[in-house]
Amino acid sequence: MWWSVLPFLFPSALAAQPAAPAPIRAPLRDLDIGQLNFLHTTDTHGWLAGHLQEPSFSADWGDYVSFAAHMREKIEAQGRDLLVIDTGDRVEGNGLYDSSEPKGVYLREILRHQHVDVMTSGNHELYKQNTSEAELLVTVPCFKGSYLASNIDIYHPKTEELVPLAPRYKKFTTKQQGIRIVAFGFLFDFTGNYNNTVVQRVEETIKEDWFQEAIRDKEVDLFLVAGHVPARSPEYKAIFTEIRSIRWDTPIQFFGGHEHIRDYTKYDSKAVALASGRFMETVGFMSIDGLSTSEGPSTAAGPVFKRRYIDNNLHSYYHHTGLDEDSFPTEKGRNVSRLIAESRNALQLDKIHGCAPRDLWMSRVPYPHNDSVYTWLEKQVLADSLEDESRGDGPAVAILNTGAIRFDIFEGPFTQDTTWIISPFTNGFRYVKDVPYDKVQLIMEVLNQQTKVMRRWMDETDDHLDSLGPPAQLEHTGDVIADADESHDWPAFDMVGTQQIPLAAKKPSGEIVPGYTTQDDAGDDGDDSIHSPISFYRVPNCIQALVSVNASTALETVDLIYIDFIEPYLTLAAKFAQLDVDFAKEGKVYLPGKTMTDVILDWVKANWKCE
Ligand SMILES: *[C@@H]1O[C@H](CO)[C@@H](O)[C@H](O)[C@H]1NC(C)=O
Ligand SMILES: *[C@@H]1O[C@H](CO)[C@@H](O)[C@H](O)[C@H]1NC(C)=O
Ligand SMILES: *[C@@H]1O[C@H](CO)[C@@H](O)[C@H](O)[C@H]1NC(C)=O
Ligand SMILES: *[C@@H]1O[C@H](CO)[C@@H](O)[C@H](O)[C@H]1NC(C)=O
Ligand SMILES: *[C@@H]1O[C@H](CO)[C@@H](O)[C@H](O)[C@H]1NC(C)=O
Repeated sequence: MWWSVLPFLFPSALAAQPAAPAPIRAPLRDLDIGQLNFLHTTDTHGWLAGHLQEPSFSADWGDYVSFAAHMREKIEAQGRDLLVIDTGDRVEGNGLYDSSEPKGVYLREILRHQHVDVMTSGNHELYKQNTSEAELLVTVPCFKGSYLASNIDIYHPKTEELVPLAPRYKKFTTKQQGIRIVAFGFLFDFTGNYNNTVVQRVEETIKEDWFQEAIRDKEVDLFLVAGHVPARSPEYKAIFTEIRSIRWDTPIQFFGGHEHIRDYTKYDSKAVALASGRFMETVGFMSIDGLSTSEGPSTAAGPVFKRRYIDNNLHSYYHHTGLDEDSFPTEKGRNVSRLIAESRNALQLDKIHGCAPRDLWMSRVPYPHNDSVYTWLEKQVLADSLEDESRGDGPAVAILNTGAIRFDIFEGPFTQDTTWIISPFTNGFRYVKDVPYDKVQLIMEVLNQQTKVMRRWMDETDDHLDSLGPPAQLEHTGDVIADADESHDWPAFDMVGTQQIPLAAKKPSGEIVPGYTTQDDAGDDGDDSIHSPISFYRVPNCIQALVSVNASTALETVDLIYIDFIEPYLTLAAKFAQLDVDFAKEGKVYLPGKTMTDVILDWVKANWKCE
């Protein structure tokens, strides 16, 4: 088959990771270099090796190191400035992070080689005690002077004192032009952190003395608000309003993330926000002209903001730097790419477990569909894998939240890497016996109305549950985007404004291939690569698989199997369905010691042989 020779088809000079596919030569829009320029990454989730099955995103962190160095050199040679920003969720979601023990030891070593000017934490850095402690003890010192934590405190593991994770803010002056910047680093009003960290609500933080003093500083040409916060969010609106109430015309540049989308929004003529996607697919670019400096006011009218979403591949990088495969890689960039390859090797991420016979999509196709990863899970993986004697052989329904799957599966090798990418979570299964089938169907209805019913309940009880669907579809529970996912009749679908999902482009070079076609407040010309649009379909919050069921099975009572992550939702949904089951008490562990990831992997090994 073609994929068995794939790694040897492309010489490593083309892309830094030896197995990465060559980029497709899509037509490109240029970058408008301005007085002050930014490169922005967010929600990289461990994808520092780039995407080894998607040409559009096949550059790695080493290439990004080279790119940023060339851009800085080029921009500074013109007497202008460049700043590099990262807004968090660097951890969890890729084998390069998750598969080492302890987690993250390779990733942090790779990450540190990029020069970053302003960095923040995401929510994923704070779910577990040891993750946030590694942040405090390793990442913050590595990025000393850049890492900011305006609203995060942590109990120091040695002194046990509550201390800021990093400095609250900083004031600095750009190298070339002396632009005076006050920078902040926020996290949205996150409540799911482990109790060794304290996330203060943004709305309270901005009332604190230090913030009030910082925004009263008169010697400021730009407020820079970096954060793991959606570009359109109540939190950013609150910061904008607070700064504007004191400084009615100082330009403000926001950088955001968390929703995994490309987005750009204008608060007023002098304040804008950029969000730069996810998973090292996108490097966001911003430029601003017409800023005052320490030398005095700007002579140009301003400020003028320009944005661009760069596809993370070498074709884009060569184009924007005017370099080629010989002149582009810097020594440092090559070293980082080599370090990534060595790390992947040590972690055996290229180990092949099977070969997927076709692409399986999260949201490129409607659900149910033959090419839906959820239909595949339901009809094949779960139906085959959950027949287990420990439960008896009666009929069962297995419920799984769609957010448990993190990425598409591409035709070709299903590697150790793929395993971590599609299912990085450690959740296993539990079950209760003999539940009326019609109650299970009611529960499913409630779960799939989560945004309406459950959210109201959460508001009333002040309890907080994470979303069940995929992050790009349902995440932040703030009200700005909440109406986008209120309710839907399955399998009806709709296209969602600024959200897009990528495609493994397999067309020959020179063509316009499907990919991101972002619509934002500045129009539809933000993407650097000109792509044809991709349809994007909503999926339900939860799916159900029938197990040990055939045409002659009477579905009166069934065993209810579920992924443990959804247990609190189930308990709640059962109440709505008037089913008196306390899942936390009555649920029994099913397939002890096996996670959903193990179940998928076993199925792939048994069913997807490579030819
Ligand atoms: C945190 O602890 C768990 C359990 O011991 C371990 O698997 C993981 O690698 C640790 N993570 C970090 C970042 O140290
Ligand atoms: C955090 O929760 C643990 C239980 O998970 C508890 O033992 C500990 O006292 C709590 N720590 C703080 C600072 O509240
Ligand atoms: C690249 O790696 C080589 C070999 O380890 C080392 O000697 C060199 O200093 C590194 N260069 C940079 C710029 O980091
Ligand atoms: C669905 O996929 C299977 C496996 O690839 C294939 O055999 C079958 O023909 C497909 N069915 C439809 C309706 O496309
Ligand atoms: C159908 O499933 C039931 C259990 O639900 C089983 O007892 C029966 O043997 C199955 N029939 C066939 C034809 O497979």
